[in-house]
Amino acid sequence: MNKVFIYYSLTGNGDVVADYFKKRGFDTEKVISKDKMPKNKALRILKGGFLATMEFETDIETPDINVKKYKEIIIGSPIWNSRLTPPINALLNELFLSEKRVTFVLYSASGTAPKAVKKINTLYPKSKVIVLKEPLKNKEELKKLDVINL
Ligand SMILES: Cc1cc2nc3c(=O)[nH]c(=O)nc-3n(C[C@H](O)[C@H](O)[C@H](O)COP(=O)(O)O)c2cc1C
Repeated sequence: MNKVFIYYSLTGNGDVVADYFKKRGFDTEKVISKDKMPKNKALRILKGGFLATMEFETDIETPDINVKKYKEIIIGSPIWNSRLTPPINALLNELFLSEKRVTFVLYSASGTAPKAVKKINTLYPKSKVIVLKEPLKNKEELKKLDVINL
């Protein structure tokens, strides 16, 4: 197997995307954040929004991934305040991806992620970015992933 989907998910949308890739022969690795988010939704939005806006990296349980072994790497992140999430900021710092073919799959409530897309286009100009609108409840959104040459 030379394809991997590495992702973070707080509320399950990323897990649905992981199932899609698993069925297509990908290894999947979920990033675990050591910084726990509040259960209360309003507090979660406040804290997560702040951390994402500051582009913080939260401590993660370092995934045991040898990226050299993979030809195809797909990174998955929820969108918080239009940006990538802090655990994924940390992951991107830990993995050397600049010479790899990387695709980003983002999931958000609106189906858009302007600031994250801008950042990815700057850091990884050769990357593809696909944004899904809440795939947990809109399963048809997963069809957008079919454009990835699997
Ligand atoms: C802290 C926080 C901030 C969010 N900010 C946005 C946002 O700016 N735009 C948007 O469309 N969705 C936003 N969302 C919604 C999530 O991106 C969306 O529910 C996503 O599918 C969650 O993925 P997950 O279930 O894998 O964690 C936010 C959610 C949280 C918790």
